[in-house]
Order: sequence, then structure tokens, then C-alpha cells
Amino acid sequence: MHWRLGRMLFWTAIGLVAAAFVLALVGEKASSTNARELILHWHEWLGLLSLVAIVVALAARQLGKYAGKPPLPNWLPRLRRAVRLLLYTLLILQPLSGWLLASHEGKLASFFRWILPPLAAPNSALGHLGYIYHGLGGMLILFIVALSLRLNLTALVFSATGQGRRDNRETSGSEKPDSRHPD
Ligand code: HEM
Repeated sequence: MHWRLGRMLFWTAIGLVAAAFVLALVGEKASSTNARELILHWHEWLGLLSLVAIVVALAARQLGKYAGKPPLPNWLPRLRRAVRLLLYTLLILQPLSGWLLASHEGKLASFFRWILPPLAAPNSALGHLGYIYHGLGGMLILFIVALSLRLNLTALVFSATGQGRRDNRETSGSEKPDSRHPD
């Protein structure tokens, strides 16, 4: 139950990040200042909502472990765990870097009606880091999501064909099924 909720929120967070990414690109091209500001606000709100979703997803995942044991080769769960860890880290860094970027530009970020305090002083080194990272981070997330989906597909194929079980027997003589989340 908790595991399912965690998984649902994880993918919701990715959807929100993708939407925030698109809004950033659309906002940059908007001709009127009002439209640009409105789009940027929604960009910030959806981005911060993704932070809330990913934090709750992490908490839910800690409360419930996946009970299934798909027959996967030993290397695949390890690789998937590493990619997932990287993705969670990037998903947390992205909205925080946006908040830093706003602080760097001397703007106060908002989350719907709440005006948020600045995370760094304007033109500080930390704000500058957020500024440099923010544009790149969005693209990096989309790339890692594609990689993660590719690994999920590989896992599905291994599970369906039983190839993973055979690979484990051949390499170690024993079978160690994965009891972690299959995503
Ligand atoms: C989490 C998902 C987010 C993604 C994928 C994302 C992506 C982007 C991208 C691609 C840009 C354009 C960067 C460039 O031109 O170099 C941008 C700009 C910006 N983002 Fe985000 N962002 C996210 C969340 C946030 C959040 C949560 C905030 C603030 C709290 C924020 C604040 C900003 C600001 C202030 C700009 C500069 C806009 C301007 O003045 O042109 N972003 N974002």
C-alpha cells in the first residue's frame, strides 16, 4: 500500500518536473511581461509541488517494501537502485536550485499564496551555483528518466522470459532473487 503510494508520487513528481521544464521554455518565449510572469509563477509552483511529492514518496517508500521477487540477474537490481538514487537526488536538487536561482536574481519565489524567504543572498556563490545548475538539471532529469524506463523494460523482459534466473545460476551457481522495488 505505502509502496504503491510512493511509486505513484514518484511518477507524479517526474510529471510535474517535465511540466515545469516545458513552462520554463514557453515562458522564455512569451512576448508580454504579464504572461511571462504568470507562466514563471506556475513554473515555480509546479516545481515546488514536485519537491513535496518526492519527499512524501521517499517517506512512503521507507514505510513499505515491495513484496514480489522478480527473477532478475544480480547486476540489474544494483544498477536500477543506483539510477533510482541518482534520480531522487536530482529531483530534490532541481527545485532547490530554482529557488536558489530566484534568490540569486533578487526575486522572492512563491508557492501558490506563500511568498518564500530567499535561500541565498543575491549574487552569492551558492546562488550562482543554483543559477548554473538549474537549466542543466532539468535536461539531466529527463535523460535519467529515459534511462530508468529503459532499465524497467529490460527487467520486464527478464521477468517474463526467466532469463535472469538462468544468468544467475550460470554466474554464481546460486540464485539470489531481488526483493526490492521493481519500479
Ligand atoms: C523542478 C522542476 C523545474 C525544472 C525542470 C526547471 C527548469 C527550468 C529551466 C529549463 C529554466 C530555463 C533556464 C535557462 O534559461 O538557463 C528555468 C528557469 C528558471 N527557474 Fe526553473 N525549473 C524547475 C523548478 C523551479 C523552481 C521550483 C523555481 C523557484 C522556486 C524555479 C525558478 C526558476 C527561475 C527564477 C528561472 C529563471 C527565469 C527567468 O528569469 O528567465 N524553477 N527553470
